[in-house]
Amino acid sequence: MAMLKGLALALFVCFFSCYLTSVPSLASPDDFLQCLREKIPSELVYTQSSSSFAGVLVSSIRSPRFFTNTTVRPLCVVTPTDASHVQAAVLCGRTQGVRLRVRSGGHDYEGLSYRSARPEVFGVVDLANLRAVSVNQSETTAWVDSGATIGELYYTIAKDNSQLAFPAGLCPTIGVGGHFSGGAIGMMMRKYGLAVDNVLDAKLVNANGDLLDRAGMGEDLFWAIRGGGGGSFGIVLSWKVQLVQVPPTVTMFNIAKTIDQGAADIVTRWQDVGPSLPNDLTIRVIVQGQQALFQALYLGTCSSLVATMGDQFPELTMTSADCQSMTWLQSVAFISFWNRDTPVEALLSRTTSLSTYTKNKSDYVQSAISKGVWKDIFSWFTMNGAGLIILEPHGGFIGSVPTDATPYPHRSMLYNVQYIVFWQGDGGAAANTWLGNFYDFMGQYVSKNPRQAYVNYRDLDIGQNVVVDDVTTFDGGKVWGEQYFASNFQRLASVKAAVDPTNYFRNEQSIPPLAQGRK
Ligand SMILES: Cc1cc2nc3c(=O)[nH]c(=O)nc-3n(C[C@H](O)[C@H](O)[C@H](O)COP(=O)(O)OP(=O)(O)OC[C@H]3O[C@@H](n4cnc5c(N)ncnc54)[C@H](O)[C@@H]3O)c2cc1C
Ligand SMILES: *[C@@H]1O[C@H](CO)[C@@H](O)[C@H](O)[C@H]1NC(C)=O
Ligand SMILES: *[C@@H]1O[C@H](CO)[C@@H](O)[C@H](O)[C@H]1NC(C)=O
Ligand SMILES: *[C@@H]1O[C@H](CO)[C@@H](O)[C@H](O)[C@H]1NC(C)=O
Repeated sequence: MAMLKGLALALFVCFFSCYLTSVPSLASPDDFLQCLREKIPSELVYTQSSSSFAGVLVSSIRSPRFFTNTTVRPLCVVTPTDASHVQAAVLCGRTQGVRLRVRSGGHDYEGLSYRSARPEVFGVVDLANLRAVSVNQSETTAWVDSGATIGELYYTIAKDNSQLAFPAGLCPTIGVGGHFSGGAIGMMMRKYGLAVDNVLDAKLVNANGDLLDRAGMGEDLFWAIRGGGGGSFGIVLSWKVQLVQVPPTVTMFNIAKTIDQGAADIVTRWQDVGPSLPNDLTIRVIVQGQQALFQALYLGTCSSLVATMGDQFPELTMTSADCQSMTWLQSVAFISFWNRDTPVEALLSRTTSLSTYTKNKSDYVQSAISKGVWKDIFSWFTMNGAGLIILEPHGGFIGSVPTDATPYPHRSMLYNVQYIVFWQGDGGAAANTWLGNFYDFMGQYVSKNPRQAYVNYRDLDIGQNVVVDDVTTFDGGKVWGEQYFASNFQRLASVKAAVDPTNYFRNEQSIPPLAQGRK
């Protein structure tokens, strides 16, 4: 009896997986679209011939670089209103040999959620309609759908309870799906860690179209989706998060120092102080032109902040006149809009400007850069095409979590550096030349072997997947993958091999499956 059961199971498994692995290697776009039409309400499927296609495709594009039709566009955009539509799209894609890319907020720096950098036939699953946030006040938890923005998440958590919050990124229009998939750093990470350090459960549709929660997917896959980067392991539909406590009012300051006011000395000092301040205090730095702006969020009162600053960072000469007190939710709006008077409801807006072109790169600094080098760094900001850099301090709680607890491996770094250049229209040459040269110059002062980078600040220049026999290779992936994930890359590749061996979910920087026999 037991044997028969085993045989039946084996037959069933083979039927199912043979069926799926024997998909035609050539895509059948028409059959794919026909399959979608049969399984998903037609008003939720936009094909290239639909008059609304361009509007839906562009709806959450955040980078004008990928707005033109010089890049490869999807066959269709599917906008599910139910988990079953996502499952159906995956099954149609598997059987007809058409890949899917998933888009939550569309903020990917390389646009990988809705465009391909190489010729490819693919569809997009856009989760914008799946964006519920439900807070459980007694448990202080929330379920948040991937299609919600972090502005919607913050607003819903804090609007009725100013002492509840969540630690994630700064820009309110970022989508939860992609953001959490890459870890999510922000102004409260020194106190409460990354967003993914506070994820308790998740619901995901895997490459077989199954809908799984944490118990169903198992701890390896649950580990991988909390920071291993979006687009590799399946489509995460929602996340259960632990909310965190903040005081009824928090204190912020913005203090600018020019090079003549000692900016180079103060930034040099900040490298040691920023990561070792009390966890309640985060000071990030924006360097642009001949100025450094020190921007702080303190989960406490003005008087106690003044005392802490006098004691630990007197070089910044902060006084009570610099204090701006407000609720935590107001602080989120203040950081986003640079204006204290912007109402918190603005955090619910999903529109952003598409007028400025940008290109970003990232680094991590492991040991403090000397004052002499900081003077050189400031001189780069007088050059033609110069952009800005943002320094985000680590240390505190984030530094106390083991490197392999989640895929985010940069925990022991002093700080993250983000390089951003801007231009209008066709004028990108000077900006991009400056960025390339400055990034080369910084190489000697930042983390090495590998030089580390943050997956949520995606940068295709650091490497792209190599496809052999229709599967992305581990060795090709290592080039960029060890920069994003260091020693966690191999474990990510082994999870990928277990959950998506045929490499259905893939893009230019998706995790490749670890080849069998390799450990
Ligand atoms: C203005 C701006 C400010 C930012 N500020 C911060 C910050 O403060 N802190 C920080 O950490 N990051 C920040 N980021 C980076 C941001 O975290 C990443 O761009 C993030 O991946 C965006 O998520 P998204 O859902 O909006 O993007 P999308 O473009 O929708 O997705 C990004 C990637 O994840 C995949 N993906 C999307 N949804 C899912 C899903 N549901 N399941 C599986 N894979 C999925 C996509 O296919 C794509 O590969 C910022 C970005 C921008 C543009
Ligand atoms: C490409 O762009 C041009 C001009 O912006 C537009 O007229 C055309 O319809 C676009 N083509 C496609 C396939 O989107
Ligand atoms: C680079 O980062 C800035 C600041 O976070 C952001 O506004 C911009 O959209 C990013 N660039 C791209 C191409 O996404
Ligand atoms: C909130 O959580 C509690 C404790 O787990 C549970 O009993 C309750 O049903 C939840 N409330 C809602 C609205 O889900």
